Amino acid sequence: MDEYVVIGNPIAHSKSPEIHAQFAAQTGQQLHYDRLLAPLHGFKAAVQVFQRRGGRGANVTVPFKLEAHALADQLTERARLAGAVNTLKFEDGRILGDNTDGAGLVTDIVVNAGQALAGRRVLLLGAGGASRGALLPLLQQKPAELVIVNRTQTKAAELAAQFASHGPVKSAAYAELDGVFDVIVNATSASLTDDLPPLPVSVYGSDTLAYDMMYGRQPTIFLQSAQQHGACVRDGLGMLVEQAAEAFHLWRGVRPATAEVFASLRAQLA
Ligand code: ATR
Repeated sequence: MDEYVVIGNPIAHSKSPEIHAQFAAQTGQQLHYDRLLAPLHGFKAAVQVFQRRGGRGANVTVPFKLEAHALADQLTERARLAGAVNTLKFEDGRILGDNTDGAGLVTDIVVNAGQALAGRRVLLLGAGGASRGALLPLLQQKPAELVIVNRTQTKAAELAAQFASHGPVKSAAYAELDGVFDVIVNATSASLTDDLPPLPVSVYGSDTLAYDMMYGRQPTIFLQSAQQHGACVRDGLGMLVEQAAEAFHLWRGVRPATAEVFASLRAQLA
């Protein structure tokens, strides 16, 4: 049977095996998907052993996405620009690296949340790996404007300059933000420590969608604050499921439906 894994350290918490098992059952694909704990200094060796054993592909999670980018023989454009890889496909002894995180985010916003990005004002919080991975897919939706805001402003400016040829992207400082945004995506790691990015409340309107890439049992402090200021809110559980669906499509050529998988994961969190 075709074998896939998710590789990370730690990995026990990963929901990917469950998600892909549901996709496989639903689409009638014969495959097995497992967790693979790689030693912190043993990512490359772990991939090579799995590949030699006949593995067909892998998802890659913390802390190996940059190493996966370096290891791939060939990269999709979105992976190259993201500077990180979350999906590997093994073909004829070669490794294709892709990054499905940004596409997962966009699908969750546009399709599942029903919030168009085309022609809208979009605000991206953070200038680390998560933001970088989202930028090309967000810009491909043709927003009117995409503003990157970051605590360390120079990083936001560098990111905006790097993506300038792909759409109307610019950087700003939190204190400089002006006017209402239609979609605000929190790609900072602030939610992990229950910190709130220092956003002026003037960014929120009644039609604003505030999106946090993090998810959990409770809304993040960012989503709680956005809701208090009148925004619609959504956490990153849908992004998790959609990035998996995009990887499944890359490997199997079949696009699974995601609603039921999303609902079952949400029920487990409750
Ligand atoms: P990831 O790979 O998850 O994006 P990262 O590359 O370490 O992680 O980036 C974390 C991002 O969250 C950065 O943009 C960081 O801001 P700085 O570049 O100024 O460090 C941002 N971040 C982390 N904690 C934050 C906080 N408490 N408030 C605002 N931004 C925060």
